[in-house]
Amino acid sequence: MKTNIGVFFGGRSTEHEISVISASQAMHAINRDRFDVTPIYITKDGRWYTGEALFDVANYRDIPSLLAKCTPVYMRPIYGDYNLYHDHKTMFGTTPKVFTTLDVVIPVLHGSNGEDGTFQGVIESTGIPFAGCDVLSSANGMDKITMKMILKECDIPVVDYVWFTDKEWFVRRDEIIERVEEKIGYPVIVKPANLGSSVGIARADNREALIDKVDNASKYSSRLIVEHLVEQLQEINCSVLGTCDEYQTSVLEEPIKSGEILSYEDKYMGGTKGAKGMQASQKRIPADLPADLTKRIQFLAGETFRVLSCHGVSRVDVIVDRADGSVYVNEINTIPGSLSFYLWEASGISFDKLMEKLVSLALKRKRDIDHKTVSYSANIFALGGGVKGTKGAKGVKGSQA
Ligand SMILES: Nc1ncnc2c1ncn2[C@@H]1O[C@H](COP(=O)(O)OP(=O)(O)O)[C@@H](O)[C@H]1O
Ligand SMILES: [Mg+2]
Repeated sequence: MKTNIGVFFGGRSTEHEISVISASQAMHAINRDRFDVTPIYITKDGRWYTGEALFDVANYRDIPSLLAKCTPVYMRPIYGDYNLYHDHKTMFGTTPKVFTTLDVVIPVLHGSNGEDGTFQGVIESTGIPFAGCDVLSSANGMDKITMKMILKECDIPVVDYVWFTDKEWFVRRDEIIERVEEKIGYPVIVKPANLGSSVGIARADNREALIDKVDNASKYSSRLIVEHLVEQLQEINCSVLGTCDEYQTSVLEEPIKSGEILSYEDKYMGGTKGAKGMQASQKRIPADLPADLTKRIQFLAGETFRVLSCHGVSRVDVIVDRADGSVYVNEINTIPGSLSFYLWEASGISFDKLMEKLVSLALKRKRDIDHKTVSYSANIFALGGGVKGTKGAKGVKGSQA
């Protein structure tokens, strides 16, 4: 029997459409001689559907008629249950029926509720092998504040930043402004900490603009970050594939932007109308850089992947300050647009091989996890007679859990 890959995409995220494109590309690349593919589309309000119609991107123009051709499905958060269920209606009510059994999951979800660990938590609870980052690395990679804190601690260069919550901004605005001006100075770039696709991101050249941009960014997230703005920046991306213990880095790309900030349109529409995904954006591959700078960026990309304990395929985005040649890691995308397949093709790994690699990494991690002790079969309540509640239970006092 072929391995059945469940590809999850869509989702409650501002990058919903991009995920549909990335997943469609990935599903078409999977070698059907070796694998079956079950598409699972998560709608913008969080419902799961499966069906053949989900393979064709053209069908997403009319979502109600697409969903009418599909079956609502769900998994159960029960360890060891890899089934995809649907509700079967009988004259006595509805009963859950197995629609199909998955062997491995590949999340191709971008942004909130998909790339940030929440979906990974759902999947991890079932114990099914899945591709890509786990809860910890997804969450750390998604939050621009937490990510920068970890990188800084590991001596990976990041730009100076100040972070705060929307509530702090409301209560202690003047204090925060003072901190920004003292630590960074204008111009700055203001960002919601845990979105993607440049949503809510803007430059501020003075106090008035700072207030305006932070007010706007706080509409998107309760966690906010203000960073030093690199005026003469060159953006370079590098994909990393593997595990934090054993990984390889791709050739570099230089995305080309139409304005000062790489926009949603630059990233996904190739500057034109009609979304085509990350692969269609304007870019230079390989980036035209001296060999030593290329090596340094690949090294920093690998280090970022390693210290964040990443898994599968990620893309690390780096900023080069042309004024003084400094290199800063800007962010990691733990489920990158188009799964960065175009960077791996340019590095000698075809898209179908990339998908195979993601599956084998997922299965390998599952085997490794199964070797770890996560619970004891002995029942502590059945040992040593009476359990007298927390007061009497041995070990509770000294427990460091
Ligand atoms: N510190 C910075 N200095 C100058 N430009 C920046 C800086 N950080 C981000 N940018 C610009 O803003 C874009 C979006 O920022 P980024 O942190 O990558 O957010 P997103 O997660 O939305 O992609 C970048 O691609 C770049 O063009
Ligand atoms: Mg970015």
